[in-house]
Amino acid sequence: KETVLSGIRPTGNLHLGNYFGALSKFIRMQDDYNCMYFLADLHALTTHPDPKMLHENVRGIMAEYLAAGLDPEKVTLFVQSDVPEISEMYLLLNMHVGIGELMRTTSFKDKARKALGLNRDDNESDADFEHQIIGSETNKRVNAGLLTYPTLMAVDILIQKAHKVPVGKDQEQHLELTRRFARRFNSFYGVDLFPEPVNFNFTGEAIKVPGLDGSGKMGKSEGNCIYLIDDEKTLRKKVMRAVTDEGPKVPNSPVSEPIKNLFMLMELASTPDTLQHFRDAYADCSIRYGDLKKQLAEDLLKITTPIRQRIEEIKADEAFMGRVLRQGAERARENAAKTLAEVREIMGIRKFY
Ligand code: TYM
Repeated sequence: KETVLSGIRPTGNLHLGNYFGALSKFIRMQDDYNCMYFLADLHALTTHPDPKMLHENVRGIMAEYLAAGLDPEKVTLFVQSDVPEISEMYLLLNMHVGIGELMRTTSFKDKARKALGLNRDDNESDADFEHQIIGSETNKRVNAGLLTYPTLMAVDILIQKAHKVPVGKDQEQHLELTRRFARRFNSFYGVDLFPEPVNFNFTGEAIKVPGLDGSGKMGKSEGNCIYLIDDEKTLRKKVMRAVTDEGPKVPNSPVSEPIKNLFMLMELASTPDTLQHFRDAYADCSIRYGDLKKQLAEDLLKITTPIRQRIEEIKADEAFMGRVLRQGAERARENAAKTLAEVREIMGIRKFY
Protein backbone atom coordinates (compact mmCIF):
# COMPACT_ATOMS: atom_id res chain seq x y z
CA LYS A 1 0.00 0.00 0.00
CA GLU A 2 1.19 3.50 -0.76
CA THR A 3 1.75 5.85 2.17
CA VAL A 4 -0.48 8.90 2.57
CA LEU A 5 0.55 11.66 4.94
CA SER A 6 -0.96 15.00 5.82
CA GLY A 7 -1.22 17.43 8.71
CA ILE A 8 -3.05 20.45 10.01
CA ARG A 9 -1.70 23.20 12.27
CA PRO A 10 -3.47 23.26 15.66
CA THR A 11 -4.04 27.01 15.59
CA GLY A 12 -7.82 26.97 16.09
CA ASN A 13 -10.88 24.87 15.45
CA LEU A 14 -11.29 23.28 12.05
CA HIS A 15 -13.33 25.18 9.47
CA LEU A 16 -14.93 24.14 6.20
CA GLY A 17 -11.75 25.00 4.30
CA ASN A 18 -9.85 22.42 6.36
CA TYR A 19 -12.73 20.00 6.03
CA PHE A 20 -13.26 20.10 2.26
CA GLY A 21 -9.63 20.86 1.39
CA ALA A 22 -8.09 18.19 3.62
CA LEU A 23 -10.01 16.26 6.28
CA SER A 24 -12.75 14.87 4.01
CA LYS A 25 -10.01 13.50 1.75
CA PHE A 26 -8.19 11.99 4.76
CA ILE A 27 -11.35 10.08 5.61
CA ARG A 28 -12.07 8.84 2.10
CA MET A 29 -8.50 7.58 1.74
CA GLN A 30 -8.31 5.63 4.99
CA ASP A 31 -9.45 2.27 3.60
CA ASP A 32 -7.17 2.14 0.58
CA TYR A 33 -3.83 3.48 1.78
CA ASN A 34 -1.40 3.35 4.65
CA CYS A 35 -2.53 6.68 6.10
CA MET A 36 -0.70 8.86 8.59
CA TYR A 37 -2.30 12.08 9.80
CA PHE A 38 -0.83 14.43 12.33
CA LEU A 39 -1.11 17.79 14.06
CA ALA A 40 1.69 20.16 13.09
CA ASP A 41 2.26 21.77 16.49
CA LEU A 42 5.86 22.74 15.67
CA HIS A 43 4.66 24.57 12.55
CA ALA A 44 2.10 26.37 14.71
CA LEU A 45 4.96 27.86 16.77
CA THR A 46 5.98 30.04 13.81
CA THR A 47 3.10 32.39 14.62
CA HIS A 48 3.57 32.31 18.41
CA PRO A 49 0.29 30.92 19.71
CA ASP A 50 -0.49 31.21 23.39
CA PRO A 51 1.18 28.08 24.89
CA LYS A 52 -1.90 27.05 26.85
CA MET A 53 -4.12 27.47 23.80
CA LEU A 54 -1.72 25.47 21.66
CA HIS A 55 -1.84 22.58 24.09
CA GLU A 56 -5.63 22.71 24.28
CA ASN A 57 -5.97 22.95 20.52
CA VAL A 58 -3.95 19.79 19.98
CA ARG A 59 -6.51 17.87 22.02
CA GLY A 60 -9.45 19.68 20.49
CA ILE A 61 -8.42 19.11 16.90
CA MET A 62 -7.48 15.50 17.48
CA ALA A 63 -11.04 15.09 18.78
CA GLU A 64 -12.31 16.76 15.59
CA TYR A 65 -10.27 14.33 13.47
CA LEU A 66 -11.84 11.40 15.28
CA ALA A 67 -15.35 12.87 15.33
CA ALA A 68 -15.21 13.47 11.59
CA GLY A 69 -14.63 9.76 11.06
CA LEU A 70 -10.92 8.94 11.13
CA ASP A 71 -10.58 5.45 12.54
CA PRO A 72 -7.50 4.97 14.76
CA GLU A 73 -7.57 1.25 13.96
CA LYS A 74 -6.98 2.03 10.31
CA VAL A 75 -4.84 5.16 10.35
CA THR A 76 -1.87 6.42 12.32
CA LEU A 77 -2.74 9.60 14.22
CA PHE A 78 0.03 11.53 15.92
CA VAL A 79 1.38 14.85 17.08
CA GLN A 80 4.40 16.21 15.20
CA SER A 81 6.40 17.05 18.35
CA ASP A 82 6.00 13.45 19.58
CA VAL A 83 8.40 12.45 16.79
CA PRO A 84 11.73 14.13 17.66
CA GLU A 85 13.33 12.48 14.61
CA ILE A 86 11.52 15.14 12.56
CA SER A 87 13.40 17.93 14.32
CA GLU A 88 16.76 16.27 13.74
CA MET A 89 16.12 15.65 10.08
CA TYR A 90 14.90 19.26 9.72
CA LEU A 91 18.40 20.36 10.71
CA LEU A 92 20.01 17.96 8.24
CA LEU A 93 17.74 18.82 5.29
CA ASN A 94 18.25 22.56 5.85
CA MET A 95 21.83 22.06 4.62
CA HIS A 96 20.39 21.46 1.16
CA VAL A 97 17.83 24.25 1.08
CA GLY A 98 18.55 27.72 -0.30
CA ILE A 99 17.48 30.82 1.61
CA GLY A 100 16.60 32.43 -1.74
CA GLU A 101 14.08 29.78 -2.67
CA LEU A 102 12.58 29.99 0.81
CA MET A 103 12.29 33.78 0.62
CA ARG A 104 10.48 33.53 -2.70
CA THR A 105 7.78 31.24 -1.27
CA THR A 106 4.37 32.91 -1.34
CA SER A 107 3.40 31.82 2.17
CA PHE A 108 6.65 33.24 3.56
CA LYS A 109 6.13 36.56 1.82
CA ASP A 110 2.57 36.80 3.16
CA LYS A 111 3.56 35.95 6.71
CA ALA A 112 6.66 38.12 6.68
CA ARG A 113 4.57 41.05 5.45
CA LYS A 114 2.15 40.47 8.28
CA ALA A 115 4.97 40.28 10.84
CA LEU A 116 6.36 43.59 9.56
CA GLY A 117 2.94 45.20 9.48
CA LEU A 118 2.99 45.74 5.72
CA ASN A 119 -0.03 45.63 3.47
CA ARG A 120 -0.45 43.02 0.80
CA ASP A 121 -0.98 45.83 -1.68
CA ASP A 122 2.23 47.64 -0.78
CA ASN A 123 3.76 46.88 -4.10
CA GLU A 124 7.35 46.75 -2.99
CA SER A 125 10.00 45.20 -5.22
CA ASP A 126 11.83 42.04 -4.16
CA ALA A 127 14.85 44.14 -3.23
CA ASP A 128 12.74 46.46 -1.04
CA PHE A 129 11.10 43.51 0.59
CA GLU A 130 14.42 41.84 1.40
CA HIS A 131 15.70 45.11 2.72
CA GLN A 132 12.70 45.41 5.03
CA ILE A 133 13.30 41.91 6.37
CA ILE A 134 16.99 42.39 7.00
CA GLY A 135 16.67 45.91 8.31
CA SER A 136 13.52 45.63 10.37
CA GLU A 137 13.44 46.81 13.96
CA THR A 138 13.85 44.28 16.73
CA ASN A 139 10.21 44.41 17.82
CA LYS A 140 9.08 43.54 14.32
CA ARG A 141 11.24 40.65 13.30
CA VAL A 142 10.52 37.87 10.87
CA ASN A 143 11.49 34.72 12.73
CA ALA A 144 13.73 32.14 11.07
CA GLY A 145 11.14 29.43 11.69
CA LEU A 146 8.85 31.15 9.20
CA LEU A 147 11.57 31.10 6.58
CA THR A 148 12.35 27.41 7.06
CA TYR A 149 8.69 26.40 7.35
CA PRO A 150 8.84 24.55 3.98
CA THR A 151 11.90 22.55 5.11
CA LEU A 152 10.00 21.30 8.16
CA MET A 153 6.97 20.44 6.04
CA ALA A 154 9.15 18.59 3.53
CA VAL A 155 10.67 16.60 6.40
CA ASP A 156 7.22 15.64 7.73
CA ILE A 157 6.53 14.12 4.34
CA LEU A 158 9.93 12.70 3.39
CA ILE A 159 10.70 11.12 6.76
CA GLN A 160 7.64 8.88 6.25
CA LYS A 161 8.50 8.41 2.55
CA ALA A 162 4.94 9.43 1.67
CA HIS A 163 3.63 9.12 -1.87
CA LYS A 164 0.41 11.07 -1.57
CA VAL A 165 -0.26 14.22 0.42
CA PRO A 166 -3.90 15.34 0.46
CA VAL A 167 -3.92 19.13 0.92
CA GLY A 168 -5.82 22.20 -0.29
CA LYS A 169 -4.65 24.46 -3.06
CA ASP A 170 -2.80 26.85 -0.74
CA GLN A 171 -0.30 24.09 0.16
CA GLU A 172 0.65 23.12 -3.38
CA GLN A 173 3.69 25.36 -3.53
CA HIS A 174 5.03 23.70 -0.39
CA LEU A 175 4.50 20.34 -2.02
CA GLU A 176 6.36 21.49 -5.12
CA LEU A 177 9.29 22.49 -2.90
CA THR A 178 9.16 19.09 -1.17
CA ARG A 179 9.51 17.36 -4.54
CA ARG A 180 12.42 19.62 -5.41
CA PHE A 181 14.20 18.90 -2.11
CA ALA A 182 13.62 15.15 -2.55
CA ARG A 183 15.07 15.20 -6.08
CA ARG A 184 17.98 17.33 -4.94
CA PHE A 185 18.86 15.05 -2.02
CA ASN A 186 18.58 11.91 -4.15
CA SER A 187 20.78 13.32 -6.91
CA PHE A 188 23.34 15.02 -4.61
CA TYR A 189 24.13 11.75 -2.87
CA GLY A 190 23.37 9.49 -5.84
CA VAL A 191 20.67 7.60 -3.92
CA ASP A 192 17.05 6.72 -4.53
CA LEU A 193 15.81 7.36 -1.02
CA PHE A 194 12.79 9.65 -1.29
CA PRO A 195 9.71 9.27 -3.50
CA GLU A 196 8.40 12.53 -4.99
CA PRO A 197 5.06 13.14 -3.27
CA VAL A 198 1.96 14.43 -5.08
CA ASN A 199 -1.28 16.02 -3.93
CA PHE A 200 -4.39 13.89 -3.99
CA ASN A 201 -7.88 14.91 -5.07
CA PHE A 202 -10.94 12.88 -5.84
CA THR A 203 -12.14 15.48 -8.30
CA GLY A 204 -9.26 16.57 -10.53
CA GLU A 205 -8.09 19.92 -9.21
CA ALA A 206 -7.03 20.95 -5.71
CA ILE A 207 -9.69 23.10 -4.13
CA LYS A 208 -9.79 26.47 -2.45
CA VAL A 209 -12.84 26.91 -0.26
CA PRO A 210 -13.95 30.54 -0.43
CA GLY A 211 -14.78 32.74 2.56
CA LEU A 212 -18.26 34.00 3.46
CA ASP A 213 -17.24 37.61 3.04
CA GLY A 214 -16.88 37.37 -0.73
CA SER A 215 -13.12 36.94 -0.40
CA GLY A 216 -11.06 34.27 -2.11
CA LYS A 217 -10.22 31.97 0.79
CA MET A 218 -11.79 30.76 3.98
CA GLY A 219 -9.07 31.08 6.62
CA LYS A 220 -8.72 31.25 10.40
CA SER A 221 -7.05 34.61 10.31
CA GLU A 222 -9.57 36.07 7.86
CA GLY A 223 -12.58 35.83 10.21
CA ASN A 224 -14.78 34.46 7.43
CA CYS A 225 -15.13 30.85 8.54
CA ILE A 226 -17.77 28.32 9.28
CA TYR A 227 -16.38 25.95 11.91
CA LEU A 228 -17.26 22.30 12.34
CA ILE A 229 -18.20 23.12 15.93
CA ASP A 230 -20.58 25.97 15.03
CA ASP A 231 -24.04 25.15 16.40
CA GLU A 232 -27.10 25.23 14.13
CA LYS A 233 -28.07 28.76 14.97
CA THR A 234 -24.57 30.15 14.45
CA LEU A 235 -24.09 28.32 11.18
CA ARG A 236 -27.45 29.46 9.78
CA LYS A 237 -26.77 33.03 10.84
CA LYS A 238 -23.34 33.02 9.18
CA VAL A 239 -24.70 31.66 5.90
CA MET A 240 -27.65 34.05 5.84
CA ARG A 241 -25.26 36.97 6.39
CA ALA A 242 -22.83 35.92 3.67
CA VAL A 243 -22.09 38.67 1.17
CA THR A 244 -24.19 38.66 -2.01
CA ASP A 245 -24.99 41.09 -4.81
CA GLU A 246 -28.27 42.50 -6.08
CA GLY A 247 -29.04 39.49 -8.23
CA PRO A 248 -29.03 39.01 -12.00
CA LYS A 249 -30.90 41.67 -14.00
CA VAL A 250 -30.91 39.99 -17.41
CA PRO A 251 -30.94 36.26 -18.21
CA ASN A 252 -27.56 34.52 -18.22
CA SER A 253 -25.77 37.50 -16.66
CA PRO A 254 -22.23 36.85 -15.48
CA VAL A 255 -21.88 35.60 -11.90
CA SER A 256 -20.23 37.98 -9.43
CA GLU A 257 -17.49 36.87 -7.01
CA PRO A 258 -19.66 36.64 -3.86
CA ILE A 259 -22.21 34.52 -5.71
CA LYS A 260 -19.50 32.31 -7.17
CA ASN A 261 -18.49 31.69 -3.55
CA LEU A 262 -21.96 30.58 -2.55
CA PHE A 263 -22.26 28.34 -5.59
CA MET A 264 -18.86 26.85 -4.84
CA LEU A 265 -19.91 26.00 -1.28
CA MET A 266 -23.07 24.49 -2.70
CA GLU A 267 -21.01 22.42 -5.11
CA LEU A 268 -19.17 20.97 -2.12
CA ALA A 269 -22.11 20.41 0.21
CA SER A 270 -25.31 19.96 -1.83
CA THR A 271 -26.55 17.35 -4.28
CA PRO A 272 -26.01 17.90 -8.03
CA ASP A 273 -29.79 18.33 -8.45
CA THR A 274 -29.97 21.12 -5.89
CA LEU A 275 -27.00 22.84 -7.45
CA GLN A 276 -28.53 22.64 -10.92
CA HIS A 277 -31.84 23.96 -9.64
CA PHE A 278 -30.21 27.15 -8.34
CA ARG A 279 -27.95 27.52 -11.37
CA ASP A 280 -31.02 27.40 -13.62
CA ALA A 281 -32.80 29.88 -11.38
CA TYR A 282 -29.80 32.20 -11.64
CA ALA A 283 -29.70 31.86 -15.40
CA ASP A 284 -33.36 32.86 -15.83
CA CYS A 285 -33.22 35.57 -13.13
CA SER A 286 -35.79 33.89 -10.87
CA ILE A 287 -33.26 33.17 -8.13
CA ARG A 288 -33.85 34.30 -4.56
CA TYR A 289 -30.65 34.37 -2.59
CA GLY A 290 -32.57 33.82 0.66
CA ASP A 291 -33.75 30.44 -0.66
CA LEU A 292 -30.28 29.49 -1.86
CA LYS A 293 -28.78 30.35 1.50
CA LYS A 294 -31.44 28.44 3.45
CA GLN A 295 -30.80 25.37 1.35
CA LEU A 296 -27.03 25.75 1.65
CA ALA A 297 -27.26 26.05 5.44
CA GLU A 298 -29.37 22.88 5.59
CA ASP A 299 -26.91 20.95 3.45
CA LEU A 300 -23.91 22.14 5.44
CA LEU A 301 -25.64 21.20 8.69
CA LYS A 302 -26.16 17.68 7.38
CA ILE A 303 -22.37 17.41 7.23
CA THR A 304 -21.37 19.27 10.38
CA THR A 305 -24.08 18.26 12.89
CA PRO A 306 -23.07 14.61 13.39
CA ILE A 307 -19.43 15.67 13.69
CA ARG A 308 -20.21 18.41 16.21
CA GLN A 309 -22.28 16.03 18.31
CA ARG A 310 -19.39 13.59 18.65
CA ILE A 311 -16.62 16.11 19.40
CA GLU A 312 -17.36 16.81 23.08
CA GLU A 313 -17.89 13.15 23.86
CA ILE A 314 -14.52 12.18 22.37
CA LYS A 315 -12.70 15.10 23.97
CA ALA A 316 -13.98 14.04 27.38
CA ASP A 317 -12.55 10.53 27.00
CA GLU A 318 -8.97 11.36 27.89
CA ALA A 319 -7.92 7.74 28.27
CA PHE A 320 -9.05 6.93 24.73
CA MET A 321 -7.32 10.00 23.25
CA GLY A 322 -4.17 9.12 25.17
CA ARG A 323 -4.16 5.58 23.79
CA VAL A 324 -4.69 6.77 20.23
CA LEU A 325 -1.89 9.31 20.41
CA ARG A 326 0.58 7.03 22.15
CA GLN A 327 0.02 4.26 19.65
CA GLY A 328 0.22 6.73 16.75
CA ALA A 329 3.43 8.28 18.04
CA GLU A 330 5.04 4.86 18.38
CA ARG A 331 4.23 3.89 14.79
CA ALA A 332 5.25 7.25 13.37
CA ARG A 333 8.52 7.23 15.32
CA GLU A 334 9.44 3.74 14.26
CA ASN A 335 9.12 4.64 10.62
CA ALA A 336 10.80 8.04 11.06
CA ALA A 337 13.75 6.54 12.93
CA LYS A 338 14.45 4.19 10.02
CA THR A 339 14.56 7.02 7.50
CA LEU A 340 16.62 9.24 9.81
CA ALA A 341 19.20 6.47 10.24
CA GLU A 342 19.46 6.19 6.45
CA VAL A 343 19.80 9.95 6.04
CA ARG A 344 22.52 10.17 8.70
CA GLU A 345 24.43 7.32 7.10
CA ILE A 346 24.15 8.85 3.62
CA MET A 347 25.32 12.26 4.85
CA GLY A 348 28.29 10.81 6.75
CA ILE A 349 27.05 11.33 10.28
CA ARG A 350 28.23 8.04 11.76
CA LYS A 351 29.22 6.87 15.16
CA PHE A 352 32.82 5.87 15.98
CA TYR A 353 31.86 3.63 18.85
P1 TYM B 1 -3.16 24.44 7.53
O1 TYM B 1 -3.21 24.09 8.96
O2 TYM B 1 -3.11 25.87 7.15
O3 TYM B 1 -4.41 23.82 6.78
C1 TYM B 1 -4.72 22.44 6.90
C2 TYM B 1 -5.29 21.91 5.61
O4 TYM B 1 -6.48 22.62 5.25
C3 TYM B 1 -6.37 23.11 3.94
N1 TYM B 1 -7.11 24.38 3.82
C4 TYM B 1 -7.91 24.69 2.80
N2 TYM B 1 -8.24 23.99 1.68
C5 TYM B 1 -9.10 24.56 0.84
N3 TYM B 1 -9.64 25.79 1.03
C6 TYM B 1 -9.35 26.54 2.12
N4 TYM B 1 -9.90 27.73 2.31
C7 TYM B 1 -8.43 25.99 3.07
N5 TYM B 1 -7.91 26.43 4.24
C8 TYM B 1 -7.10 25.43 4.68
C9 TYM B 1 -4.90 23.29 3.70
O5 TYM B 1 -4.59 23.29 2.32
C10 TYM B 1 -4.32 22.10 4.41
O6 TYM B 1 -4.37 20.95 3.60
N6 TYM B 1 1.56 23.57 6.25
C11 TYM B 1 0.29 22.90 6.52
C12 TYM B 1 0.39 21.82 7.58
C13 TYM B 1 1.44 20.81 7.33
C14 TYM B 1 1.40 19.74 6.40
C15 TYM B 1 2.63 19.04 6.56
C16 TYM B 1 0.47 19.32 5.46
C17 TYM B 1 2.63 20.72 7.99
N7 TYM B 1 3.34 19.66 7.53
C18 TYM B 1 2.92 17.92 5.79
C19 TYM B 1 0.76 18.19 4.70
C20 TYM B 1 1.97 17.50 4.87
C21 TYM B 1 -0.69 23.95 6.96
O7 TYM B 1 -0.34 24.96 7.50
O8 TYM B 1 -1.99 23.63 6.80
